[in-house]
Amino acid sequence: MKPSTLLPLLSLLSASASAHPPPSRRSPPSQYKLSHAPIPSIPGPTFHRPGSKSALASSSSSPESQKAGARLSGTNITSVSTTFRIPLAEMATTGPTADNENGVYQASYWVGIDGVTSASCGGVSLRAGVDTFWDTGMRSTGAWYEWYPSQESSQFGNFTLVQGDVVRITAVADGDGLGGEVRVERVDGLGCEAKVLASASHRFEGVASGDRLCLGEAAWVIEDYPLLNQPEFPLALANFTEVVFQGVEVNGQGAKGMEVFDINLEAQGGRLTDCEVGDGGSVDCKRVVGDA
Ligand SMILES: *[C@@H]1O[C@H](CO)[C@@H](O)[C@H](O)[C@H]1NC(C)=O
Ligand SMILES: *[C@@H]1O[C@H](CO)[C@@H](O)[C@H](O)[C@H]1NC(C)=O
Ligand SMILES: *[C@@H]1O[C@H](CO)[C@@H](O)[C@H](O)[C@H]1NC(C)=O
Repeated sequence: MKPSTLLPLLSLLSASASAHPPPSRRSPPSQYKLSHAPIPSIPGPTFHRPGSKSALASSSSSPESQKAGARLSGTNITSVSTTFRIPLAEMATTGPTADNENGVYQASYWVGIDGVTSASCGGVSLRAGVDTFWDTGMRSTGAWYEWYPSQESSQFGNFTLVQGDVVRITAVADGDGLGGEVRVERVDGLGCEAKVLASASHRFEGVASGDRLCLGEAAWVIEDYPLLNQPEFPLALANFTEVVFQGVEVNGQGAKGMEVFDINLEAQGGRLTDCEVGDGGSVDCKRVVGDA
């Protein structure tokens, strides 16, 4: 294990010992701010067809990856969405990051267009997502959006979520790739007739031409991000047990022909997810440790 990767976990001990607000149904967003930017020293992921374990057979020799999920390559991709129940973030109980009861564990879920890796559209990416934390037994959650790299991530104001809520996240790009809109809705169920209980959105306009979207990739992702002030190391990945992205759509149609990919971080035990495409076209990712 690389001790360096566990440093952020340990160094948060004093921060997490501070007083916590009283529990409430809609607590304020997390005190932690993540860097929603790639870590240059982590090159992955590698993509593979669902059901083919070839890329996973030797994860120790695969490139490291802080991302898992599915993507669809295409042309004219201007709308990407999914509905899912935000998993509870738990302390990991197996693997090298297990049982740090005074630590912070994190998992983020996002939907976006382009830029899963720098090989796609030079890394330019429009995305919106939800960060979840387990911090010394307390859970917190926040919704965010970004147009990478021209506009750093921002939290949606006046919009609170808790783990266990069902959310629908949509990213929509203008046809010229120079503007778009992201939306996060809290809904009362996973079906397409679910009612919207609360929503937040943000519109991007007049993006610089160097940050134009290519409209060539749709993505549904779990990411192990670092903290803003410690951008080199992903936080310990929370145990989310399983996340199921349902209603996975591109331009209003069910996505067909997706590739899947997994988080692979040596210091945290190797492969940390097992993502597949489910029978109804959902993207299902389990939290694992190693090649199990
Ligand atoms: C993409 O969409 C635009 C406008 O809707 C259309 O003019 C163009 O032909 C489309 N390109 C492809 C490759 O489908
Ligand atoms: C996550 O939680 C599940 C259910 O309690 C457990 O079976 C699994 O071993 C845990 N995984 C990790 C990495 O802690
Ligand atoms: C905040 O959200 C509430 C409920 O959705 C809404 O009624 C209120 O107008 C919002 N306030 C602001 C400042 O947007």
